[in-house]
Amino acid sequence: MPASVAPSRHCLVTGANRGLGLEFVRQLLARGDRVVATCRHPGKATALNPLAGEHPGRLRVLPLDVADPKSIAELVRELALLDDGDAPLDLLVNNAGVLHSGERFGTVSAANLDDSFRTNARGPFLLTQALAPSLADGAKVANISSQLGSIAAVDGFGTPSYAISKAAQNMATALLAQALGERGITVLALHPGWVQTDMGGAGAQLTPTQSVAGLLAVIDGAIVADSGRFLDHHGQPLAW
Ligand SMILES: NC(=O)c1ccc[n+]([C@@H]2O[C@H](COP(=O)([O-])OP(=O)(O)OC[C@H]3O[C@@H](n4cnc5c(N)ncnc54)[C@H](OP(=O)(O)O)[C@@H]3O)[C@@H](O)[C@H]2O)c1
Repeated sequence: MPASVAPSRHCLVTGANRGLGLEFVRQLLARGDRVVATCRHPGKATALNPLAGEHPGRLRVLPLDVADPKSIAELVRELALLDDGDAPLDLLVNNAGVLHSGERFGTVSAANLDDSFRTNARGPFLLTQALAPSLADGAKVANISSQLGSIAAVDGFGTPSYAISKAAQNMATALLAQALGERGITVLALHPGWVQTDMGGAGAQLTPTQSVAGLLAVIDGAIVADSGRFLDHHGQPLAW
């Protein structure tokens, strides 16, 4: 293999059927990596499934609802059954997320708060904990966070369920960095920018291609000393 060609990595992405998750899968496959793409309903993942045919043997699609601990346990079991199930993961992208829009102070519901916490904070934490034995020493964990989870940046009452859950996810990142640090595993909280997805809307500043290219460069460039940091898609630090 020429020195300039990076070895193929083994990656797992959550929420891979659309938006940033789908773009992560596309770009990881394009650079030669092997990808386990997870989503709630693989049978309905019409944009994701064709990629398996385009990259024979390098894409597996498995079901995962990150908000459901039973689904997380089932994923760990299914992962072990893959042909290369004993191959450790070099990269885990905790991308799946939910934003309940239109919330107003006075009527914010327990259901929205609970769903946001389960999906955006508890999910990435429990999945990383469950997959820890499957992560390679020196692996990277990218928790896709949001600037809206920055307590320091709050300047109005907006998207409370989302913001509270992303702040909790940021704490999960800091704690996971501690838990996994002795194995040389780098855990990052990453803000993708404002991106044109179903969540970000058509008027957002960045395309998924631009955002994910930036995020992958930040992930690739991160060293273990960066673990526990909160960075944007240019690698610039964000205030907690
Ligand atoms: N777009 C932005 O401007 C922006 C800005 C800051 C941060 N982010 C973050 O970036 C990440 C990706 O966002 P996006 O813009 O790509 O959003 P999106 O287009 O709304 O896609 C969200 C993805 O998460 C999945 N998902 C939601 N709940 C899930 C669950 N319980 N289990 C498994 N998958 C679940 C969705 O699957 P279904 O199709 O099954 O619903 C979908 O694949 C999120 O963490 C988001 O908070 C986005």
